[in-house]
Amino acid sequence: MSRTSDVLVVGGGIIGLVTAWRAAQRGFATAVVDPGPGGGAAQVAAGMLAAVTELHYGEQTLLGLNLASARRYPEFAAELTDLTGHDLGYRQCGTLAVALDADDRAHLRELHALQQQSGLDSQWLSGRECRRLEPMLAPGVRGGLRVDGDHQIDPRRLAAALVTACERAGVRFDREWAERLVVERGRAAGVLTRSGVLLGAGQVVLAAGSRSGQLAGVPDDLLPPVRPVKGQVLRLTVLKRYAPFLNRTVRAVVRGSHVYLVPRENGELVVGATSEELGWDTTVTAGGVYELLRDAHELVPGITELPLTETRAGLRPGSPDNAPLLGPTGLDGLLLATGHYRNGVLLTPVTGDALAHALATGELPDEASPFTPKRFALSEQPV
Ligand code: GLY
Repeated sequence: MSRTSDVLVVGGGIIGLVTAWRAAQRGFATAVVDPGPGGGAAQVAAGMLAAVTELHYGEQTLLGLNLASARRYPEFAAELTDLTGHDLGYRQCGTLAVALDADDRAHLRELHALQQQSGLDSQWLSGRECRRLEPMLAPGVRGGLRVDGDHQIDPRRLAAALVTACERAGVRFDREWAERLVVERGRAAGVLTRSGVLLGAGQVVLAAGSRSGQLAGVPDDLLPPVRPVKGQVLRLTVLKRYAPFLNRTVRAVVRGSHVYLVPRENGELVVGATSEELGWDTTVTAGGVYELLRDAHELVPGITELPLTETRAGLRPGSPDNAPLLGPTGLDGLLLATGHYRNGVLLTPVTGDALAHALATGELPDEASPFTPKRFALSEQPV
């Protein structure tokens, strides 16, 4: 048994879905192979669009791509909502990154300096000014950075909208596991599924998140160097009598760990996230929940009043330089859209555009060219 398409996307998370949607809009007959389209890390992610507050030293190239995607978000969200009728929970609420002690404050001051060197918009506030903006903050907050440009979206709604957009654009869903890449005459030619169905394709996009390095049949030297980085995340509910609990995303680094609280308009409050290198383990642990609640409670003591409605763990697709792998590989017909690590939700719009361009032209657009998977090719490593 076999089916064929111009483009076959392996992986139906938000990155695979946006790639399929944009490819179909360009006129490619497109299919997605995944047992549960719309699942994956987006079901766990908080959905911060945090190009500025998640800036790190040495990641200025990634910053360019993050900002390009952040700029695209208003139009992207409006287009998806118009097409599908889904409200994505896109909220231009801004972010406040705060410090609880002298070390945190010094760290945040350094981040502020880096943001200013990079021409980014962020404003230093005293502890009192932070509490004026967010009265639920702990009295001990020593200062913070106000970043009005870092927004949020609900990744679960985004994933659902992308499934609908794909369906409307005529994307075929093959709801099963991709087992092996099929290579014919030196070219990727499709995928064999676990149930033995051959899905033939002119081009294959591997967009399987943290599993992207596991597809059999991909030549060893082209396997994407992605690894799972576990994140545990909590969901609480802001009862009406406490609303508005927080007006914007609040985050901090507490004892070296990132903690953030993302308030949705529908009353959901997402608290994340641990960062653990534990392979494929997705157990929610007492220790993980304890640390998140402890750190979040130091920031916003009132959270202990709120119902805890969900605990969950997911796997970020980490890459060696924390940046995604996008576009053509050393095997004709095989492209990658993976390795988005902490920025998958933010990078969804720009990834869809970059992959559609690459599928149509064979080249990445300039803004995405630093993220070619070929940067990890062995022959390009310094000796
Ligand atoms: N970008 C937030 C996280 O990965 O936890």
